[in-house]
Amino acid sequence: MAESAPEKTTFPRGWFAVGYSSDIPNGEMKGLSYFATKYVAFRDNEGKLSILDAYCPHLGADISIGGKVEDGCVRCPFHAWKFDQSGQCVDVPYAKKIPRGAKVKNHPVQEVNGIVFMWHAADGDEPHYEIPVIEQYGTDGWIEWATNSVVIKTHPREVVENVADKAHFPTVHNTHVEQFDNIYDEHKATQVTAGIAYPRGGGEDKFDLEATYHGPAYQVTYMNGVIQSIYFQAHTPIDENTLQLRFGVSLPVISGDPEKSRKFAGMYVQNLTTGYHEDIQIWENKTYNERPVLCPGDGPIGKLRRWYKQFFVPRVE
Ligand code: FES
Ligand SMILES: [Fe+2]
Repeated sequence: MAESAPEKTTFPRGWFAVGYSSDIPNGEMKGLSYFATKYVAFRDNEGKLSILDAYCPHLGADISIGGKVEDGCVRCPFHAWKFDQSGQCVDVPYAKKIPRGAKVKNHPVQEVNGIVFMWHAADGDEPHYEIPVIEQYGTDGWIEWATNSVVIKTHPREVVENVADKAHFPTVHNTHVEQFDNIYDEHKATQVTAGIAYPRGGGEDKFDLEATYHGPAYQVTYMNGVIQSIYFQAHTPIDENTLQLRFGVSLPVISGDPEKSRKFAGMYVQNLTTGYHEDIQIWENKTYNERPVLCPGDGPIGKLRRWYKQFFVPRVE
């Protein structure tokens, strides 16, 4: 029997980056468009962040468009029903009784290293792994993220497949690979690589890196090259054929001068953006071969696909 590919049609289960902590100040809200629907993220005055479905259970207004944060709750702009942080309706201004079922779904949230993560599981599964804290980030010795974001017409499996795709580095990224290993461990997939990058502008950079996916959609890379660096990439489906890819770089403070590091990080992000555009041209135009013809010298594509599949099938404890 042909193996089915559930990952072709549904979204993976896991933690997804949906923005930065600084995007949502205390007492404010922000609409989010992911997983082919809308969410409203809002903070109470003490800073507690919640994410709820944005569509009101009353007559369906999008709470994030014109709604208000009030005493740590959100009020719908259409008929002013008010929902608390759990998503329960707590006030209907023109009715004595709050109807049963007047609630919106609340989604688990984590804020780690300045990034907001939302848990998404179409099958209702609860969070079963954590997004780890990057110890260096936020300390005096490291600068804050320099970031960028691109919207790509592709399925996230294409981005994830980079973990195992050893043979695309020379052709797509002009990078000579000397060492290439993958380690798959439950919800984590790690790529260990060493080689020489030949930037398009000339020169050569010797590097080694360890890049770990924590779940299906967030990867942290520790890299040693001309300079030590930490960067993340996070991709979140907008709909079945589109995703938002965010990435950011943090660098050590160079010679006691954070501005110098920020400048360098800006250039670094530009280089990463160029690298992603090299991939994007392939991703947006390729098809997905369920049974690719592979050869020695390809990376462990099959292992990667088996690892990724865990985020689409019901989880067994
Ligand atoms: S649609 Fe939200 S209160 Fe009516
Ligand atoms: Fe790539």
